[in-house]
Amino acid sequence: MALKERLAGTMREPPAIEQPNVFPLSWDVQTKKLEEIWDASQREYWDPAKLSWDTFDPSSYSWEERECIAYWWTLLSVFDASAPPVFAEALIKTYEEHEEDPVRRCFFSITRDEQNHEQMCRLAITKLLDHTDPMTYEPKTELGKKAQLNTKWLFFNGSRYWNGYKKAVPKYSLAVLFSSFLMGEIAAATIFHQMAANCQELIFQEAFKHIGKDEGRHMAICMSLMERDYPNLTDEDKSVITRQIRAGYLFLSAVLFEPPEEFWDLPDDFIEVQRKCEAVSRAAGFGIPEY
Ligand SMILES: [Fe+2]
Ligand SMILES: [Fe+2]
Repeated sequence: MALKERLAGTMREPPAIEQPNVFPLSWDVQTKKLEEIWDASQREYWDPAKLSWDTFDPSSYSWEERECIAYWWTLLSVFDASAPPVFAEALIKTYEEHEEDPVRRCFFSITRDEQNHEQMCRLAITKLLDHTDPMTYEPKTELGKKAQLNTKWLFFNGSRYWNGYKKAVPKYSLAVLFSSFLMGEIAAATIFHQMAANCQELIFQEAFKHIGKDEGRHMAICMSLMERDYPNLTDEDKSVITRQIRAGYLFLSAVLFEPPEEFWDLPDDFIEVQRKCEAVSRAAGFGIPEY
């Protein structure tokens, strides 16, 4: 590419850079707590492919059980497969805004962790179904067929939020943005610890222990940023944050509890089918918390 104008011949130092430029050339540290969380994320890093898969035999379950447990992982993957691009977008924002270095690293660690969670979903689903994905899989049982319809509706609902999110990222401050993640991180940290304790299968105990720890760190990142930024919020930001926390709760309630009707566009028998799948999974030793 030819340069429009050669400045280097006319001045000794380059001119001031237009802001925001995407990256800072500095590594400012203000929030010590975030530095500690980053260190923990390096220590606690795990690889889903290296868990005890050799102890896991899907054929020890009936097809109905396999389809129901895979349904739960699919439910989780509707969220965990959307998390990497969501946090990657937020990571770019931390660079554009020249956030302090540990904030940039913490958002990088969340992006990396969430992709691990997505990979864990992939491994569990493909082994349980003996197929590449839950969407093109041909269900073998009646409940499996209904579960797949649930999946398709959930996926449709989840997809509706991406464009809205992309538009929101440049508009709001990081403080407002992470408030919408907060509910998810708190609830996720709780549910995965319960599942680690209630699952009989070793591979799932291992996965939920790791995922629970990761989500605990994500929650701590959100909390540290809140402590840093919330004392200086404008009134307008405050009211947006209240709405965001509620929206975050409603979005995640599909996996953490049950999807509320005013927010999720789902068929009438959705909850009934989901409860049946959860009951079958629970009876097969897959520890989904009780209603
Ligand atoms: Fe996650
Ligand atoms: Fe998370």
